[in-house]
Amino acid sequence: MPKGSPELTQARHDEIVNACAKLYETMGFKEITIKEIANFTSFTRPSIYNYFQTKEEIFLALFKQEYEMWTKEIDELEPSGAGDARLEFSSQIAHTLERRERLLKLLSTNMNEMELNSRPENLVAFKTAYGASVDAVGNCLQRFCPDMPEQDREDFVFSFFPLVYGIYPYAVVSDEQKEAMEKAGVHFRYMSIYEIACLGARKLWGYKNMKIVVLEGSPHKKGSSNMLAGEFIKGAHEAGHTIEALDVAHMDIHPCLGCEHCGMNGVCVYKDDNHVIRDALLATDMAVFVTPIYYFGMSAQLKMVIDRFYSYTTKLSGKSLKTVLITAAWDADDDVMPYTAEHYKKLCRYMNFKDCGMVLGTGCGSPSVTAGSNHMEEAYRLGKSL
Ligand SMILES: Cc1cc2nc3c(=O)[nH]c(=O)nc-3n(C[C@H](O)[C@H](O)[C@H](O)COP(=O)(O)O)c2cc1C
Repeated sequence: MPKGSPELTQARHDEIVNACAKLYETMGFKEITIKEIANFTSFTRPSIYNYFQTKEEIFLALFKQEYEMWTKEIDELEPSGAGDARLEFSSQIAHTLERRERLLKLLSTNMNEMELNSRPENLVAFKTAYGASVDAVGNCLQRFCPDMPEQDREDFVFSFFPLVYGIYPYAVVSDEQKEAMEKAGVHFRYMSIYEIACLGARKLWGYKNMKIVVLEGSPHKKGSSNMLAGEFIKGAHEAGHTIEALDVAHMDIHPCLGCEHCGMNGVCVYKDDNHVIRDALLATDMAVFVTPIYYFGMSAQLKMVIDRFYSYTTKLSGKSLKTVLITAAWDADDDVMPYTAEHYKKLCRYMNFKDCGMVLGTGCGSPSVTAGSNHMEEAYRLGKSL
């Protein structure tokens, strides 16, 4: 160690680690050399050896720093008290990882090499930081789920950490890798860091990730009902679900002729876009009906889609589909929504749908008013709570 104040020593140590972090943004572990790191600092290569003996020791210090920053973030997570605490934990912890891409990248490199080429005291310091993260996740679980038995908590932690190790290569995929996957015919689900972490955590709790089909029934693509649907989708997406939004108002859909050709369970005489909606609904776990209020009811565009259920009523009602209703109306009074809400509830009973919530957007007469409405938050929360 060079002579100097502890502050100066720490400052130089940090400068080296930060230079390594900068290079690591665009280069891999193997390519980065001590010479290159020195080029990014204010001192020469030989003087780096006063602080670190090997490149691996520098990386291990960076790794340690990343764990410390992650631990700090986890320590700050708190349950809101609203909704399912386990879902909230999954979402919040996934967001912390989303902000720690460098940690995930480091985890996906050859850690053994770093550990074996570092002095024991550096290794212990690194393991201490890692251990603090393990404890932080355990303590965080205790804050969110105080009733969780200790053994379950430990099982969760030691299932979650191996999952974290594997996130980076699944989330960060180059164009070349994508192309090779396509050529090899590999079915791959491209997901973000947040999506993988949230889905993984939810799976550890035993939750099922749902497919959700959103049927948008307004002629206004950027109108109020679609704005509310957008917030719902945001929340549901954050909760780890897979969303397919269908702008049914702009699809080629004809009104049911009532010709009985289908016999309520067969082929429809029309060759329009209805098969897209049918296939999506028969393959999904949840459907969301989105509509502006027109004369106290749903829009004709959405009603046409519902009437066309006729040719697959038996199949659809056999699915016990989960459903949600999202509406937007100009009026702010209590007398505008009950008619559509009752219709929807009757439809649920008849079609064996399981209602999971309604966002009845009263006083949402234009996009600018809707943007400031509490119904936006309500829609987001409903999506997130699923
Ligand atoms: C044909 C039509 C009928 C409407 N009927 C009602 C109504 O009965 N009650 C109401 O409060 N608003 C009514 N409105 C207003 C819309 O529900 C309101 O502007 C809503 O925000 C439109 O949603 P969107 O932007 O998603 O299309 C009507 C609008 C139209 C064009």
